[in-house]
Amino acid sequence: MAKIRAKNNVEIQKMRAAGKLAAEVLDHLTPQIRVGMTTEEINQICHDFIIANNATPAPLNYRGFPKSVCTSLNEVVCHGIPSEQDVLKDGDIINVDVTVIVDGFHGDHSRMYLVGNVTDEKRQLVEDTYEAMMLGIKTVKSGSFLSDIGKAIQTFAEGKGYSVVREYCGHGIGRIFHEEPMVLHYDPQDPNYDMRLKKGMTFTIEPMINLGVAGNHVLEDDWTVITDDGKASAQFEHTIVVTETGCEILTQSPKGLHKPPYSAA
Ligand code: MF3
Ligand code: CO
Ligand code: CO
Repeated sequence: MAKIRAKNNVEIQKMRAAGKLAAEVLDHLTPQIRVGMTTEEINQICHDFIIANNATPAPLNYRGFPKSVCTSLNEVVCHGIPSEQDVLKDGDIINVDVTVIVDGFHGDHSRMYLVGNVTDEKRQLVEDTYEAMMLGIKTVKSGSFLSDIGKAIQTFAEGKGYSVVREYCGHGIGRIFHEEPMVLHYDPQDPNYDMRLKKGMTFTIEPMINLGVAGNHVLEDDWTVITDDGKASAQFEHTIVVTETGCEILTQSPKGLHKPPYSAA
């Protein structure tokens, strides 16, 4: 049972600013997603917006990652590298994962986008993955168990016939991009993993849910993670702070563009 330090009010205020900018990056990107654009264009749009707001894209050069955001298409589970070779086509689903550093603090946030006409199966996967994340978030309050998050996500996702990725997890976040605790999206049934959450703790919840098998592997580029069966994977991510009665979502969309379809907003 790890000891996790809660953030103080000054730190939480800075986390709010970072989280807000991360959400604004994706709000800015949302109306620009279209068939025929490349994932490198998505990277450029996000990068330019982050720089224009005097912030830093955390992924750039992080452990050698070459771009400012992650773009994960269809069977890519996470950590997809933006490329001029990757063109969005009708029927694609894509996750764009943005992490910004504002005044020394990180805000980490991702959403899915539907490109053109997406099959009902993939559209439903995206919808259900958003719900899985929100069900995990809803378990959080001062005194709740860390494992309640993964339990809620796994029960819901597997109940719908999906599988939950185990190799990648949510994480504590603050001045450091990835810190303790690890936030699993399934129940490890391990008392050593568990702990009580405390007011002021900041971490991400970012379930990756697969249409087919949970198994996945990393490509030759050492980053891109794809499903073993080539079926689609979806992910949403929020950064949150634990409060007395629940939690505050630090990466809430100021424009209400939290999940597709985005056209209504
Ligand atoms: N944003 C990812 C996360 O949610 C981490 C990306 S690390 C990178 O934790 F190096 F791939 F950018
Ligand atoms: Co994260
Ligand atoms: Co992220």
